[in-house]
Amino acid sequence: MTLSHTMRAVEISEPGGPEVLKPATHPVPVPGHGQIVIRVAYAGVNRPDALQRAGLYAPPASASPLPGLEASGTVVELGPNVTRWSIGDKVCALLPGGGYAEYVTTHEEHALPVPDGMGVKEAACLPETCFTVWSNVVMRGGLRGGERFLVHGGASGIGTTAIQIARSLGARVFTTAGTDDKARACEALGAERAFNYKTEDWAAEVKAIGGADLILDMVGGAYLPRNIRTLADDGRLVQIAFLQGAKVELNFAELMMRRLTLTGSTLRPQSDAAKARIARQVETHVWPMIAAGHFTPVMDSEFPLDQAAQAHARMESSGHTGKIVLKVGG
Ligand SMILES: NC(=O)c1ccc[n+]([C@@H]2O[C@H](COP(=O)([O-])OP(=O)(O)OC[C@H]3O[C@@H](n4cnc5c(N)ncnc54)[C@H](OP(=O)(O)O)[C@@H]3O)[C@@H](O)[C@H]2O)c1
Repeated sequence: MTLSHTMRAVEISEPGGPEVLKPATHPVPVPGHGQIVIRVAYAGVNRPDALQRAGLYAPPASASPLPGLEASGTVVELGPNVTRWSIGDKVCALLPGGGYAEYVTTHEEHALPVPDGMGVKEAACLPETCFTVWSNVVMRGGLRGGERFLVHGGASGIGTTAIQIARSLGARVFTTAGTDDKARACEALGAERAFNYKTEDWAAEVKAIGGADLILDMVGGAYLPRNIRTLADDGRLVQIAFLQGAKVELNFAELMMRRLTLTGSTLRPQSDAAKARIARQVETHVWPMIAAGHFTPVMDSEFPLDQAAQAHARMESSGHTGKIVLKVGG
């Protein structure tokens, strides 16, 4: 297949607010060893895209400077040594960047088949959240059935995914959200209790039932000492972002006295091999949850590619529940 040399994309014209996202024309990317080119149908919008746009989360040197960490679409070109995919395959993929465009390259092992029965729109929302949740909650956090799991930001893309995956693993799920409506939506997804963090003392409530065996947190700041207090003995705290800041004063004696584990990770800078390991686990464990009807992405809204700025404004308004997508090729 002969691809055109240029494509529509959305670029970050300068660091700033949503308005710095501007439609632009870019060269179609060329696949390297082990890479595929995807004609993008839909691109998922994630909070790290907004951090990149604001100049706070630089892409790795080898990645496209265009935003976009996940997409779905059709494989249209194969680089040297690609073995898994053929032209025409429908995939969804984790990207090092570049999803806000008509074409994108990624490592072939970071792509997964669009799950049976799922549309490309929903599939675009799977990679970033599934890779992040599985690698942090299960591979790093070691969540097991029967454990008490607390995830903050339950109505976020990450939160709605974590609630469903943890429930499917048989954990008891607790979560926080900024409004009563969002809290009820989280309970409808499988959370045993969702606390409105503006009106309820989630730390006291979870502590009263024995504490959390595992907490997944993206808030940080003042939540760090509260999370530590909320953990059960031998509990684990996995940090995936610091929306309220990364610097706090902590009494580390609690870690020692109660045998707590404090850890965290960020997906994007990890090696291709590490992301491929996560991809294999996601396909082995999460794709069957989708097939069984235990997990489906919660969709908030759709915007055309050239309205990426409006999509970011919606995400930063915190009015959304679940995932926001950009329609690129449809
Ligand atoms: N480490 C990694 O590899 C990785 C990968 C992907 C995402 N992330 C991080 O994970 C987070 C979620 O990402 P996303 O794409 O799902 O974004 P998102 O949908 O915009 O979610 C952000 C969430 O943070 C919640 N929040 C803000 N302040 C809060 C507080 N004080 N207490 C409880 N919740 C609070 C908001 O909830 P309310 O609106 O209810 O307040 C919102 O749901 C982001 O911080 C992102 O940077 C990390």
